Amino acid sequence: MIDTIKTTPYMDQKMGTAGLRKKSKVVLQPNYFENFIQSIFNVISPQGKTYVIGGDGRFYNDIAIQKLIKMAAANGVKKLIVGQNGYLSTPASSNMILKNHTDGGFVLTASHNPGGENGDFGIKFATSTGGQCSAQVSERIFNETQNISEYKIMNSADVDLSQIGSQKLLDMEIEVVDPIKDYVKLMEGIFDFPAIRKLFAEGFTMRFDAMNAVTGPYAIEIFENVLGAAKGSVLNSTPKPDFGGLHPDPNLVYAKELVDIMYSDDAPDFGAANDGDGDRNMILGKKFFVTPSDSLAILTDNYAYIPAYKNGIFGVAKSMATSTAVARVAARHNIGYYEVPTGWKYFVNLMDSRRITFCGEESFGTGSSHIREKDGIWAILFWLNIIASSKKSVEEITMEHWKKYGRSYYLRFDFDGIKTDVANDLMKNLENKLPSLTGKTYGEFKIKLAEVFTYHDPVDNSSTSNGMRILTEDGSRIVFRLSGTSSSGATLRVYLEKLEHEKLREDPVAMVEGLLKIAFEVAEIRERTGKQKADIIT
Ligand code: G1P
Ligand code: ZN
Repeated sequence: MIDTIKTTPYMDQKMGTAGLRKKSKVVLQPNYFENFIQSIFNVISPQGKTYVIGGDGRFYNDIAIQKLIKMAAANGVKKLIVGQNGYLSTPASSNMILKNHTDGGFVLTASHNPGGENGDFGIKFATSTGGQCSAQVSERIFNETQNISEYKIMNSADVDLSQIGSQKLLDMEIEVVDPIKDYVKLMEGIFDFPAIRKLFAEGFTMRFDAMNAVTGPYAIEIFENVLGAAKGSVLNSTPKPDFGGLHPDPNLVYAKELVDIMYSDDAPDFGAANDGDGDRNMILGKKFFVTPSDSLAILTDNYAYIPAYKNGIFGVAKSMATSTAVARVAARHNIGYYEVPTGWKYFVNLMDSRRITFCGEESFGTGSSHIREKDGIWAILFWLNIIASSKKSVEEITMEHWKKYGRSYYLRFDFDGIKTDVANDLMKNLENKLPSLTGKTYGEFKIKLAEVFTYHDPVDNSSTSNGMRILTEDGSRIVFRLSGTSSSGATLRVYLEKLEHEKLREDPVAMVEGLLKIAFEVAEIRERTGKQKADIIT
């Protein structure tokens, strides 16, 4: 039986950089989840269509996915393809949308944010491109959420998602699929698996930290079972609703267990981690960290080692805030190069129109046009393939890169939990100041340009402004933007980058100190936020 339930709107269901992301307690409010899903359905007319659904297994995943299934049936969806037990990584979901030519998909995740009752929950909605819906579509969905008065849902027992196979709910087909099999096939078709298998057979060692999140089972299958890494190479491999209390963000702060191993005297050759839903990655060598910005540049420079790319690549793109390291690689290889606003969705048009093959963000996201989301395991396999083919270590590969292209010392400073109006005023004030900054000198830095960053999409001709940037004569940069993924309050992000051609092994914090001073001064960070220093530096 289909029930039509009367409801009243919540006013805060605006999607940010990566879908809707809220505190779990907010999502648990009556009809909160249902309102949002019905608003999407009202915009996309799902009758007769097919969608992929799954989630990263966090708290509320199991309940939310049942609601989603019952609402899909009640709204006339023809078929759902569901990851077994309701699990799908974000990259596997994007692959499934593309492979099955579905009309889109839903991933229940708050990505790298903590899970559990006191953590976060989120919903990402993808279109048939395999990538998240455009800003225009999310605006239409937001408008629906403001006016919603009823939603439709099946009044029926929960669906069993533990067995692979097909079943029916009303007229809708539900196909429960193995979430891993197709993804492994996809990776096998891109990388030189025999070469990586040989590397492990010769004694190469790695640790992968799944952070108790969705990629554990994928990693065991790919790294241990298929490629032959030693048993136990995958840490924290069982997905847990609260991620075992971990903050599943693969960076030097939160992936502490892995970082301690990689900086110990008997460190393995290679270390890597993924985030909650498997789209982010961190790469480490023995006592050596590769920044995501450098990783994008290094992968791009070494594309010819990879079977799927060896005949050439289209261009490369980065988010504006990401360091300019990859720009120098693109120039040398004479390939297209694009800078987009923060948010993976901006890469999708560039991939669909074959302008780019690779793309990446400073926030531990790297990917290619094999899907339309960033892909943590893909990035790790790319590194393993380069190591296997070049017979060089992570550190040697990176050092050679810096010698060839110079090193962009790069750090991101986050100021968390600022009141939204204080953050907005700070940005507005800075924006008003920008014209007066160009041409000014601060210590060793002369400002060449200070501007609001505006992106003109070459495919759909839309324009998006996102953040501000200050460029100096020596190739350094200061970038300011507000986070679009905070689940409460505002986060100011300040990104600093200093280009060096000679001094290649210095402390990044010391190298960007002069730029940090300028950032504090021009944005009046202390005066406006009361913060003397950043809450987190990555
Ligand atoms: C952050 C990252 C951004 C990434 C997004 C989703 O967004 O900075 O690169 O695409 O998470 O993973 P932000 O909070 O900065 O808007
Ligand atoms: Zn993620």
